[in-house]
Amino acid sequence: MIIAVDGPVAAGKGTLARRIADKYGFKYLDTGALYRAVGLLLLQNNQDPNNPDLALLAAQNVSKIDPSNPALRDEKTGNAASIVAANQRVRTALLEYQREVAKHKPGAVLDGRDIGTVVCPDAPVKLFVTASAEVRAQRRFDELAAKGQEVTFDDVLSDLRDRDARDQTRKSAPLAKADDAHLLDTTKLDIEAALEAACQIIDADFPG
Ligand code: CDP
Repeated sequence: MIIAVDGPVAAGKGTLARRIADKYGFKYLDTGALYRAVGLLLLQNNQDPNNPDLALLAAQNVSKIDPSNPALRDEKTGNAASIVAANQRVRTALLEYQREVAKHKPGAVLDGRDIGTVVCPDAPVKLFVTASAEVRAQRRFDELAAKGQEVTFDDVLSDLRDRDARDQTRKSAPLAKADDAHLLDTTKLDIEAALEAACQIIDADFPG
């Protein structure tokens, strides 16, 4: 059983996917963290994420980054992640690991941008989670402010729009809703309401 959860920046898909995995006893993989780890490795080495050869080398050495490193969640890491994510060789280097995790028994929940379209196109349940840009920016702003990071709402909104545009227009695995994915708009839903809506979809697609 595979549940694919895709969507744009700060749509709430990470929290939602983790809660779905807990509820059904499935393994959870945040695939964005892989791209963030590639971005962070480059930033730590003062290397340019736009350099395709260095980005590939970083993708091959992604295990050097501790998954609990808090810098993974920084905005500059997210922006570097979105740059390296446009590189097809980086995507290919990260693909096998994602597909291995997806085979986990009794099931796995993967969240990202291309899970339903490229990584697991045959996933029996696909969700495309979205929300308005303003609501997503407010959520990301609150998250960063809670961590004591000095950011302005306008900067967060502008970064989010840039990253959305980059993710949607890149040639390799652009962010897109799979034809058979269910759209879940969380603009007016808190996490509990989003979880309930997601579980209704999952249980209807996959009874028992
Ligand atoms: O949490 P947030 O929505 O900010 O982003 P993320 O899921 O941590 O992903 C960071 C970046 O990695 C995204 O902007 C995408 O460019 C890239 N990514 C991707 O291309 N494919 C995925 N399956 C997951 C993330």
